[in-house]
Amino acid sequence: MSVQTQSTDLGLAEPTPATTQAGPLPPLPHWESTPENLGEAIREVKAALRARIEASGRTVQEVFAVIEARVTEQVEAIEAALAAGENVWPVIDYADIESGTVTPDQLEALHRRGCLVVRGHFPREQALAWDAGIVEYVESNQFFENYRGPGDDFFGTVGSKPEIYPIYWSPAQMQARQSERMAAVQAFLNAQWVSESDGVQWFDPARDSLYPDRIRRRPPGVDSAGLGSHLDPGTLDLWMTTAYQQAFRHLFDGTVEQYDPWDAAHRTAGPQYPGSTMCSAFRTFQGWTALSDMDHDQGVLHTVPIPEAMGYLMLRPLLDDVADDDMCGVTTGQVFPATETWHSLLLRAMAGIPDVRAGDSVWWLADMIHSVAPVQDQQGWGNVMYIPAAPWCPRNEAYSEHVREAFLTGSSPSDFPEEHYEREWPNRFGADELNDTGRAGLGLPLG
Ligand SMILES: [Fe+2]
Repeated sequence: MSVQTQSTDLGLAEPTPATTQAGPLPPLPHWESTPENLGEAIREVKAALRARIEASGRTVQEVFAVIEARVTEQVEAIEAALAAGENVWPVIDYADIESGTVTPDQLEALHRRGCLVVRGHFPREQALAWDAGIVEYVESNQFFENYRGPGDDFFGTVGSKPEIYPIYWSPAQMQARQSERMAAVQAFLNAQWVSESDGVQWFDPARDSLYPDRIRRRPPGVDSAGLGSHLDPGTLDLWMTTAYQQAFRHLFDGTVEQYDPWDAAHRTAGPQYPGSTMCSAFRTFQGWTALSDMDHDQGVLHTVPIPEAMGYLMLRPLLDDVADDDMCGVTTGQVFPATETWHSLLLRAMAGIPDVRAGDSVWWLADMIHSVAPVQDQQGWGNVMYIPAAPWCPRNEAYSEHVREAFLTGSSPSDFPEEHYEREWPNRFGADELNDTGRAGLGLPLG
């Protein structure tokens, strides 16, 4: 596929009115930016979603039961695997991705679980050298002396040194982002999605948009409270914008059996409600690359490895036991919480990554519930570079304008707090060091 900087052929389908054998379904109210009265908007959209499901000839309970049955089967399989001490995260060697020798069984496991460890994504020595390079980069620029404390409240930091470094433009991060090995894994993961349907190409699976994110370096001996169960794709906008209502159309129009959590249709051009933890980009997978060895019991990432759980999360608020102005606790400006109150079935399947080594990478479907386990007196370092798969699409092209500006000026990208530590740092990664993958990711002309 050719690299393009314009996107008129990507993901701009007009909404088509939904119909059933019974005739057209009632339209849904929608809010393309955050509603002024959230409670009132929730009340209105829930009533309309229920009415739409019922107009298709099925009840909300019936539709929810279909998803619940699909999810329950997975929850029970995962519980059994966990009880037997098995690892439930699929693992694929980078060498097999590179040579195209991933087996059908491995692909099936990836689709069933929606998450993956890529073994040997980078040589261990390369990852350790990047880790050392990051230390050298921040120390040579007196980062710790100048650190002003956390710029947001998402990752709380205790002590004078942060665990999350608001650093985006180190040579190590950029070398990883524009490497051939990263591009190969991103393209492999993107290809698991349906990127083209109804004559529309929703995203370009072969081209990443280089979404810049931070670094975590968690030292040995720390106590960490971890991070609660949540998901990141959006908040109330998931029910309230036209684009998301179309993306989740099968949940609401009587065709729940056709709901496919890997379908990108209508997901790559619509708006998002702003919030302190928003991600402007469409990500097929969230991910990070390990820069240290990490054992599975040292405060690591967990997911609910069930792609269909998103359907459960979307339908659960429509049941009668949830107040009319409540979306099971989802609101704007905060992450989407997954809680024992509303999602206890799903949380039974929470499963941690296996031991990983420096150079392995870890990936999970962008709609999936995840958490970070607490740890006391952590053994060894816990160091990662956050690098997702965010393929080129209208939404990511729009955000790439901000990314280019941040890259060229050494600023914090606009999705993140305005900390801008690197603006005067002389040894940040330079524009003259970009290869064609990096240039394409940033939307710059190829060299
Ligand atoms: Fe998250």
